Amino acid sequence: MENWKIVEETFVPDLMPYRETVYTIGNGYLGTRGTFEEGYAGRSPVTLLHGVFNDLAIVHTELVNAPTWIDFHVYIGGARFRMDQGEVLSYRRELDLRNGVLTRTVLWRSPAGSTVQLIFERFASLASPHILAVRCHITSVDFSSAVELRAGISGIVDNEGYRHWQLLDQGPVDSQSVHLQVRTNATGVVLSEAAALHVSQPGIVHSARDCLWAPTVIAEGQLAPGQSLVADKFVAIYTSRDTKDPAAAAVEALAQARDSGYAELLEAQTEAWALLWERSNVVIEGDEEADLSLRYALFQLSIAAPRFEERASIPAKTLSGYGYRGHVFWDTEIFMLPFFIYTQPAVARNMLEYRYWTLPGARQKATKEGLEGAMYAWESAETGAETTPRWIPVWTQDKEEGELVRIWCGDIELHITADVAYAVYNYWRVTGDEDFMRYYGAEIMLETARFWASRAEWNAERQVYEICDVIGPDENHDHVTNNAFTNGMARWNLEAALQVIEWLRSNHTQHGDELLGRLGLTDTRLDQWRTVIEGLYIGFDPGTSLIEQFSGFYELQEVLFEEYEPRTTSLQAILGVATTQQCQILKQPDVLMLLYLLDDVYTEEALHANWSYYTPKTDVTYGSSLGPAIQAALAARIGDLEQAYHFFELAAGTDLLDNRGNTSEGIHGATAGGLWQAVVFGFGGVRLTPDGPVAEPRLPAGWTRLAFKLCYRGEWLEFDLRQPDDEPLIH
Ligand code: BGC
Repeated sequence: MENWKIVEETFVPDLMPYRETVYTIGNGYLGTRGTFEEGYAGRSPVTLLHGVFNDLAIVHTELVNAPTWIDFHVYIGGARFRMDQGEVLSYRRELDLRNGVLTRTVLWRSPAGSTVQLIFERFASLASPHILAVRCHITSVDFSSAVELRAGISGIVDNEGYRHWQLLDQGPVDSQSVHLQVRTNATGVVLSEAAALHVSQPGIVHSARDCLWAPTVIAEGQLAPGQSLVADKFVAIYTSRDTKDPAAAAVEALAQARDSGYAELLEAQTEAWALLWERSNVVIEGDEEADLSLRYALFQLSIAAPRFEERASIPAKTLSGYGYRGHVFWDTEIFMLPFFIYTQPAVARNMLEYRYWTLPGARQKATKEGLEGAMYAWESAETGAETTPRWIPVWTQDKEEGELVRIWCGDIELHITADVAYAVYNYWRVTGDEDFMRYYGAEIMLETARFWASRAEWNAERQVYEICDVIGPDENHDHVTNNAFTNGMARWNLEAALQVIEWLRSNHTQHGDELLGRLGLTDTRLDQWRTVIEGLYIGFDPGTSLIEQFSGFYELQEVLFEEYEPRTTSLQAILGVATTQQCQILKQPDVLMLLYLLDDVYTEEALHANWSYYTPKTDVTYGSSLGPAIQAALAARIGDLEQAYHFFELAAGTDLLDNRGNTSEGIHGATAGGLWQAVVFGFGGVRLTPDGPVAEPRLPAGWTRLAFKLCYRGEWLEFDLRQPDDEPLIH
């Protein structure tokens, strides 16, 4: 079945910012947005590398836009090809998900009347992550004239106005290649790029020019009607995070890429992707749109994952835009990670090791708050220090100027700490990776549990432990007490840590003793944990099976969402931040999220009761983009397939259709990961039992087959699911 291409047949300048995100390519080392090779007025290319952050004094820490590697300029008889001048006679762009190659075919008439066909191809090698390639086919339709190609590296880049780089070195390497070396001005990361341009046809003259900040190779030749040129640009990129001498590494890697040539690099690329898809692909038959949009989501996740290192993780907007400045949120562990745990476990481990390497930052945050253990940053960058901005402008419907709003997430959105622990435990449970748990995971489990034990407060009057002054997943309500999700996950975190201690004591006694000793976890301490577990307040009402989202939620004003329809924005934007805080309006599922994650703790009855109560109070369509996919998974579990499919479609259109209007800021990584969960855990009905994952499919109408693979403890299981009248096949 040919359902592997994301295609655009018309060029609409106004859609460029969002389409640049959609056509992002990458390879787990870097991501590059779909900006055109020749540029376009007002647009600038963006390439983000894992872990390459710079600090901007006072303002923030952000992933830095790297010197651009895609630059490629074509001059026909002196006229520069650019789509905002002359005439675009035809246009097609396609992203081939099968091998990660982005192709654009343009028939263009220059202002002087020369017609040329240009085909640009580019890819970031999955097989050799430091290698990038651009190929350009140029065919004269009707002109005889000189053709000049210019391709190099441009260090004249910024992050929406912020310049991060200092120039260290640049120049030609030989007549066909150049290099550039720069350094971030605060964090001191050195980055080297080397680029070569190669046109194999006879009669072409190559030369290298040392333009300041933009060393360039030029190739000059002639074309007559019907004649073509094929030009290949190769780029190698290294940073001081990869090696001591990035310049030498880049020049050497470039020489190897040139020796291999484009065809060989493309072949290696195709093979590397085939291997990845062999395990990660999901097939939905009977619904091509669903099939393609899920595959697209898995492509975007796969290119954003830290494949080649364990000190970085996937930012909320992947490596595809400036949104959230490249920071890592709970989006990664709770929404994106399950796909990797089950299909690319080595990558999942890298992502979790990032949380191990950032433990020092999390410990410092806890200490600063007068607490124990590790308190993970709500927004995390290189070191694990808190990077959430404290103030941001928020636009309400009737105001043109953004109103500065204090953001409390970095101070009190605590659940991230339990979310990280949940991910560690889940990875261990599914993969059985003992080495990871012993050397990395256990410390995270224990430090996060220590944090909760120190953060819970005893309320003598109510005779319960409470966690006061927090923000739950539903950020419409801040400074609340006993948020069910936070308390429920904190309790789970403490319990799971005790289990890990048992496991260490039985299996790795010496290591366990050393760790417990180092963290001061005496038996008395562990008894205190047990007291907190027993006494921690969860607002569960056994009569109704409802869980109160936080103390006082039931007293808030009820709102009938229908009264505000039709609308195009969130209820918070319509009513304002302060009013929404007083109303039962959820930005995203909160209690339901708890039931979703801890499905072995809470009953089906509780799920049904809370589903019916909270779903009408949740602004699924215009609230957080994290909501719809999980609502879809839950609706499928509840058995409401129509609603499930509706929520699934909403999530599937987030980036491909830009249905939230902010895809220009980058791919919604959590939605992409949530889509996989909606399909595998929701429609596929996969649940983890002590014997491994089992499926209880509930396929939407029209889906005739759902097939995927899951890796459980090193063994690959194939799921091939059909509608209920057909028997599911599990190999
Ligand atoms: C959501 C958070 C999410 C963050 C980053 C916020 O709008 O409410 O749950 O982690 O975006 O995606």
